[in-house]
Amino acid sequence: MGKALDGVRILDFTHVQSGPTCTQLLAWFGADVIKVERAGAGDITREQLRDIPDVDSLYFTMLNHNKRSVTIDTKHPEGKQVLEALIQKCDVLVENFAPGALDRMGFTWERIQELNPRMIVASVKGFGPGPYEDCKVYENVAQCAGGAASTTGFDDGPPVVTGAQIGDSGTGLHLALGIVTALYQRTQTGRGQRVLAAMQDGVLNLCRVKLRDQQRLERTGVMKEYPQYPNGKFGEAVPRAGNASGGGQPGWILKCKGWETDPNAYIYFITQAPVWAKICNVIGKEEWATDPDYATPVARLPRLKEIFAEIERWTMTKTKFEAMQILNKYDIPCGPILSMKEIAEEPSLRKTGTIVEVDHPTRGKYLTVGNPIKLSDSPTEVKRSPLLGEHTDEVMAELGYSPEQISALRTAGAI
Ligand code: COA
Repeated sequence: MGKALDGVRILDFTHVQSGPTCTQLLAWFGADVIKVERAGAGDITREQLRDIPDVDSLYFTMLNHNKRSVTIDTKHPEGKQVLEALIQKCDVLVENFAPGALDRMGFTWERIQELNPRMIVASVKGFGPGPYEDCKVYENVAQCAGGAASTTGFDDGPPVVTGAQIGDSGTGLHLALGIVTALYQRTQTGRGQRVLAAMQDGVLNLCRVKLRDQQRLERTGVMKEYPQYPNGKFGEAVPRAGNASGGGQPGWILKCKGWETDPNAYIYFITQAPVWAKICNVIGKEEWATDPDYATPVARLPRLKEIFAEIERWTMTKTKFEAMQILNKYDIPCGPILSMKEIAEEPSLRKTGTIVEVDHPTRGKYLTVGNPIKLSDSPTEVKRSPLLGEHTDEVMAELGYSPEQISALRTAGAI
């Protein structure tokens, strides 16, 4: 069976996490992704956080599946010519260099258009146009500048960054959507265009509900589903909400059996209004179903702390999985706090290809996260990441270079 993006060629100039996330997705959908790296060094993540000496790190392997790797020194005059040939052959150039790096290399938007007017140039940058547009940015800077850190954590503690890489991988996802959208528009216009996904914007997009809350706070001075209500204080900005649910159904993380020794013996419990009577039955507080102080969502809002404490008395008598089983029977929304160890060992995730075991020639077997987006007509086969420059000769031959020319360029240090 063919793949959704068969025939699309991506010149992958990305490194670290954000850009590689994007091009890995495109590769999983069937695009031919040609990753350009510097000879001898390559993507810096090949050597970062290594767990085996001299072997590509998991950081690199888990973000660069299904790609081909070519080495080109794009600052070398003859290397530039090779890059020009690639620009003419590819549909999309994806990059996440520091601002201005591509221009400094001599590949301005104007120059790229001259070489290939159909070329889509897609970039991740830390910030869009404005005071910070020239700044280099990593994950946590984006989480801080995009509103995630100020709204994450507990009221009495400092801002907190999340483990989910919403700045890097989140922006990579946004960029991938921008690229396929531009490819679609090109079918009508015949022209390429620039696609920009700024990490601050990507994080803010994922924090949309917090800008909603900022405006609610400014209008009413209070947000009754936040833990600050009724006894704490609200200031001028959206406060950190602990584990409160971001939506209209109150929720919290509660201890389960074994919490004293297991840091993940917890469950997320949602007191969804339509199943309130069932919740009361399960926890043995039947009277709350009709008591006017507890029977309605509005009446419960000032009592959430007390309510969750009572529910926790029940969850503490069950393991998180026992609690899940009982609560699911009654359609009560809840979720176990799963450790990475539990996720890695979960058979259903292996079955769907969300967790995949991959074999690598120098590393051996390792686990990775597969494609989280499943297309029924374009199934993903996860293939190992390329070794540095593994496909240089192959790609150069496709560009029309003879073996002698390839060897001369190698001697000159251009590839
Ligand atoms: N041949 C020759 N030179 C190459 C090359 C190649 N194949 N590939 C890269 N380079 C050069 C670049 O041209 C650049 O040179 P210059 O500074 O002289 O213009 C240089 O390598 C370094 O690139 P840069 O992007 O500045 O790397 P960095 O390690 O200093 O910064 C980031 C890393 C991530 C902070 C920065 O790239 C950035 O802010 N990117 C945008 C935001 C982003 O994606 N951040 C998240 C990353 S997960």
